[in-house]
Amino acid sequence: MSKPIHAVTPSAKVITIQQHILLQEKKFPGASGEFSWLLSGLTLAAKMIEAAVRRAGLNSILGQAESSNTHGEVQQKLDIYANEVMLHNLGVRESVGVLASEENETPIIVHNESNNAKYAILFDPLDGSSNIDVNVSVGTTFSIYRRPVDVELNEASKWVLQPGDQQVAAGYVVYGSSTVMVYSAGRGVHGFTLDPAIGAFILSHEDIRMPEHGIYYSVNEAYADTFPEGYRKFLAGLRQGVLGRKYSSRYIGSMIADFHRTLLKGGIFLYPPTDDHPNGKLRLLYEANPIAFIAEHAGGIAINGTGPILKMHPTSIHQRTPLIAGSPSEMNYLIECLKAE
Ligand code: AHG
Ligand code: MN
Ligand code: MN
Repeated sequence: MSKPIHAVTPSAKVITIQQHILLQEKKFPGASGEFSWLLSGLTLAAKMIEAAVRRAGLNSILGQAESSNTHGEVQQKLDIYANEVMLHNLGVRESVGVLASEENETPIIVHNESNNAKYAILFDPLDGSSNIDVNVSVGTTFSIYRRPVDVELNEASKWVLQPGDQQVAAGYVVYGSSTVMVYSAGRGVHGFTLDPAIGAFILSHEDIRMPEHGIYYSVNEAYADTFPEGYRKFLAGLRQGVLGRKYSSRYIGSMIADFHRTLLKGGIFLYPPTDDHPNGKLRLLYEANPIAFIAEHAGGIAINGTGPILKMHPTSIHQRTPLIAGSPSEMNYLIECLKAE
């Protein structure tokens, strides 16, 4: 007789991202609850972007727009849509005073005159957008700062030109085989998977710790001849088994997806200086800082080649930086190789 087929019953005891934040806030008396309201703006934006990404081949949103962004890069239609979604959903929150996006030339002041406007939110609305036409993972980053003391609302650049160690929370969403939001408010790194059936982000990865080491390095090797010597020595060392294992490589070309794998599986993600981008390609405020915040709060390390990303004092809002983030074992070996240079 054949065995009965067991239906897989979904768990009734799910924890949504909102519940998780409220539970965390309860542990810290004095928390105002504003943060959960901010996060709900981010989750709604993420769901709207995810819906557009999932239908990307079916509507007319694939392909390049006729504009270029503030870095002179061609914008994809989805870059523009994702940016509008983020600006709108965060802009209607009264506690937000300033928004800064990779896609806008200057920071945007919202809620003029409101004393309740306490936060600046910085974001890359769609990371890896050159991958969108070919069904490869893309993402969204976010980084949240408090308004610095003695800074007026109209001094928007001062709200956003803060070192990454001042972030009160940061994270990203990866639109991959499933949609996952990872965030930290300084008390652990937590991951939530969007359940499309109920439209909610459900706790799926509690208290993520980056493994001590991994088996992959993730870098655009086509530029390797132009990396500074220390990086080339490091990569050769990994290939030769200096750390006691042979490495393999994975490179998607979407930073968030490449980093997300590194966070869960260990290893290292690198975007070093190159001939074309001597100061690195990735943007400090929208890309490097949120990734570094997550990496460090998960027990990993993130540097710019000379020091910690989170200690950098930004001087301009679209500043670029080299970014290397990963597990302690690979990162410490890289730091040795760079010192020996
Ligand atoms: P964006 O789509 O926001 O402009 O970012 C693209 C970035 C990043 O996601 C990725 O790590 C990097 O560009 C890839 O650059 P290369 O093609 O030079 O490797
Ligand atoms: Mn990006
Ligand atoms: Mn982008």
